[in-house]
Amino acid sequence: ITVYVPKDSAALSVGADEVAAAVAREAMARSLDIRLVRNGSHGMFWLEPLVEVDVGGIRHAYGPVAPDDVPSLFEVGFLSGNGHRLALGPTQEIEYLRRQERLTFARVGIVDPLDLADYEAHGGLKGLRKAAAMSKAEIVQTVADSGLRGRGGAGFPAGIKWKTVSELPDGRKYICCNADEGDSGTFADRMMMEGDPFCLIEGMTIAGLAVGASEGYIYIRSEYPHAIATMKAAIRVLEDAGLLGDDVAGSGRPFRMFVRRGAGAYICGEESSMLQSMEGKRGTVRVKPPIPAISGLFGKPTVVNNVLSLASVPIILAEGAEFYKDYGVGRSHGTQPFQIAGNVKRGGLVEKAFGITIRELIEDFGGGTASGRPFRAAQLGGPLGAYVDNAMLDTSMDYEALAEAGAMLGHGGIVVFDDTVDMAEMARFAFEFCEIESCGKCTPCRIGAIRGKETVEKILRGEDVARNITLIDDLCQVMTDGSLCAMGGLTPMPVLSAMRLFPEDFDRTPSRVA
Ligand code: NAI
Ligand code: SF4
Repeated sequence: ITVYVPKDSAALSVGADEVAAAVAREAMARSLDIRLVRNGSHGMFWLEPLVEVDVGGIRHAYGPVAPDDVPSLFEVGFLSGNGHRLALGPTQEIEYLRRQERLTFARVGIVDPLDLADYEAHGGLKGLRKAAAMSKAEIVQTVADSGLRGRGGAGFPAGIKWKTVSELPDGRKYICCNADEGDSGTFADRMMMEGDPFCLIEGMTIAGLAVGASEGYIYIRSEYPHAIATMKAAIRVLEDAGLLGDDVAGSGRPFRMFVRRGAGAYICGEESSMLQSMEGKRGTVRVKPPIPAISGLFGKPTVVNNVLSLASVPIILAEGAEFYKDYGVGRSHGTQPFQIAGNVKRGGLVEKAFGITIRELIEDFGGGTASGRPFRAAQLGGPLGAYVDNAMLDTSMDYEALAEAGAMLGHGGIVVFDDTVDMAEMARFAFEFCEIESCGKCTPCRIGAIRGKETVEKILRGEDVARNITLIDDLCQVMTDGSLCAMGGLTPMPVLSAMRLFPEDFDRTPSRVA
């Protein structure tokens, strides 16, 4: 009998290790022979620790399980899938999971993350094996035809990026995976690395074959110790299996992989800062051009892609470009792992084709606010993303529709706020975040963030409000136009959207403050 207790950080943070220990203890006390698998999370965080048991090939879920619940689970016979007050029925029939379209996350929560045979049994390595028999140009064309766009936030077509690197003369080239997942409310990269590390490695290896790179580096933020350990262990498993090394999957071409620990700064997620940091330097932004595709890590042509972009590649190669392209709307093809967080009842990961509305994500999946109070705002795409209000909830989640609405998808994070949120305070926070995280290289961001924060503080105190709002508008224009990278360039997005959608929160007359 197989029992699954996740090892994902989110599950660990609410006691999954203690639950796993209690399950093992209880089984031993009852002389029951069970196989305990530490899987990734299915991404239904309000149900963690989620314990599953395999009954005749169907997994039954129980959650959230506390260590004290474990004896009663055994008493009711949960190993046979029997009822219990924590019983949720077959895992895949839980509405939250059943309604998803899991392509990139197809195996996360299902497989034993470091069991290569399990990975293969669930479709793993199929894409790599196909790629190994293809030419560089054919692999690049398949990725281009799939319509895959960068999932890190900018949405740049992956095929074009790969083509740029692939067509440069042979020589040292690199694949760098950006796993410095710094956006507020995001966790998809982490879940992927902890729950299905082979998938990311397979995607990076395919990228290596496509562009003629023989080395891949994953830059993982230091706050993700479990992801770092899992990725390192997964690389060793693949090396031992001969799938990484001198001859990748019989292609006759080499590919090796390495993990680099992030330097603990948000700006190290900006691709050129990340490259600086990987080279052992301080993480400051490089002037572009040249883009990394031309001159990246150690000045060599480099593909820099986010975890989710690279982890989407195996299924594209395995099932074909058309299969993947069929999902989505307009020029936003495929699926996006959305991450619902903040003041929401059912926070977690929802992979759906582009085109789902914000309302469906927050209300149908998220179940509305956790506080039960009315919804007021959501921030999309991390701390540099725009706020949306009630009237915008029916906007489609795709690159174009969001851009038209003055918002952005970013890395797919959604942070929900109820009616107690003070949007002027959130605008102040946006500037403060930029002040703390700015790399300091350019003036609009380094100085602008501080002046912006001070000016919003004046508004909060009710000082000369109309004039200070005009000043913020001007400052945001300068930051948008004059900043060297997205940090300073996008900070105006949350500020201006808060001012546009919630002007009443900025109307601080001294009497109101008093
Ligand atoms: P960008 O638009 O400058 O570039 C996007 C990517 O395309 C880069 O990798 C760039 O090198 C590449 N590129 C551009 N032209 C190319 C060409 N002709 N050939 C090959 N490659 C080319 O955007 P940037 O500044 O890299 O990223 C900004 C985005 O990052 C924002 O939209 C934001 O959503 C996102 N972001 C994500 C975070 C996260 O935690 N995932 C954190 C902060 C921001
Ligand atoms: Fe550095 Fe900010 Fe300028 Fe980006 S915008 S280069 S983070 S100072």
